[in-house]
Amino acid sequence: MIVLGVETSCDDTAVATVEDGTRVLSSVVSSQDSIHQRFGGIVPELASRRHIEAILHVADEALKEAGLTLDRIDGIAVTEGPGLVGSILIGVSFAKSVSLATGAPFTGVNHIEAHAHAAFLSSKDYAETPPDFPFVALIASGGHTTLILFTGFTEYKVLGSTLDDAAGEAFDKVSKLLGLGYPGGATIDRLAKSGDRTAFEFKRPYIARRNLDFSFSGIKTAALNIVKNIVLPEGRTQIPEQTLKDIAASFQEAAVDVLVAKSMWALEKTGAKTLVVAGGVACNSRLRQRLEEASQGAAIRVVAPPPRFCTDNGATIASLGFFQLKKGVHASLDMNARPTWQGF
Ligand code: KG4
Ligand code: ZN
Repeated sequence: MIVLGVETSCDDTAVATVEDGTRVLSSVVSSQDSIHQRFGGIVPELASRRHIEAILHVADEALKEAGLTLDRIDGIAVTEGPGLVGSILIGVSFAKSVSLATGAPFTGVNHIEAHAHAAFLSSKDYAETPPDFPFVALIASGGHTTLILFTGFTEYKVLGSTLDDAAGEAFDKVSKLLGLGYPGGATIDRLAKSGDRTAFEFKRPYIARRNLDFSFSGIKTAALNIVKNIVLPEGRTQIPEQTLKDIAASFQEAAVDVLVAKSMWALEKTGAKTLVVAGGVACNSRLRQRLEEASQGAAIRVVAPPPRFCTDNGATIASLGFFQLKKGVHASLDMNARPTWQGF
């Protein structure tokens, strides 16, 4: 069964084709980074307008890449939340139109739940043994930071979430503060490689509390205070290169410490032996390294899919959509169709 996965919940227009929920035949992502960069964050109205312009081209490209035509599509999956409502509307309208035109059933999926499905994907040049159930998924991205216990492809329980900023949002805000642009996760990751992780003191919020919620707004404010009070005393406007790297490394280490500690605690609490890490922040090299280290000796398997499956894409949406359609979870073309996912 070939499912077309459509993702427009934020600022990426993405369409993919996936066979039997696992084999990625094509995955095309059109990024809007260059549009939002000068505003230092996503402008929702601009995002939805760009989705309208891009969606048909991206879908055409995804079909072409897989050597398919629309009549070969057996099902359509689309992100129906959470995300920017104007952006989601474009993907949902597109998916409904394709469903109406082809007669293929469609289903709406939860974007966060779909992120974890990165662990089931394989492609021409990538294959990994899928995780066994139950597993804990750490989903950390620009919009969410959540720990979820998966007991089946579509069965899960939310264990904890951020109480304020998402992890990726903290990376992006610190990057902006340091004048490194938006989005900043990848830049901080790169600079931190040659920075001193102990140069600046950052608190590890909530780390001592043995619960599974996160808080990242304090780390972000700490970065602001470091820049204002320590690095830029009156008169200085430029942060020296090495200091930038040291702040990046110290901030990143604090954020990673919290993500690793809570993930390990979630495994301990649930008794699960596998951790899946996905979402844009899962691309972070230090997070991957630290999770790998933490798993050694603890008889835990860490599944960290390749970055292209961790950031927003249509393949994860198609994967979850496949398992929902298999279970008979279809959405109706009626605008009042009930949401098919649990709230977060
Ligand atoms: O999953 P994603 O593509 O979109 C959302 O659903 O939000 O995640 C984007 C987020 C951004 O905040 C970006 O800065 C962050 O992922 N990110 C990273 C890295 N690459 C992307 N954060 C830390 N280290 C990275 N290497
Ligand atoms: Zn996402």
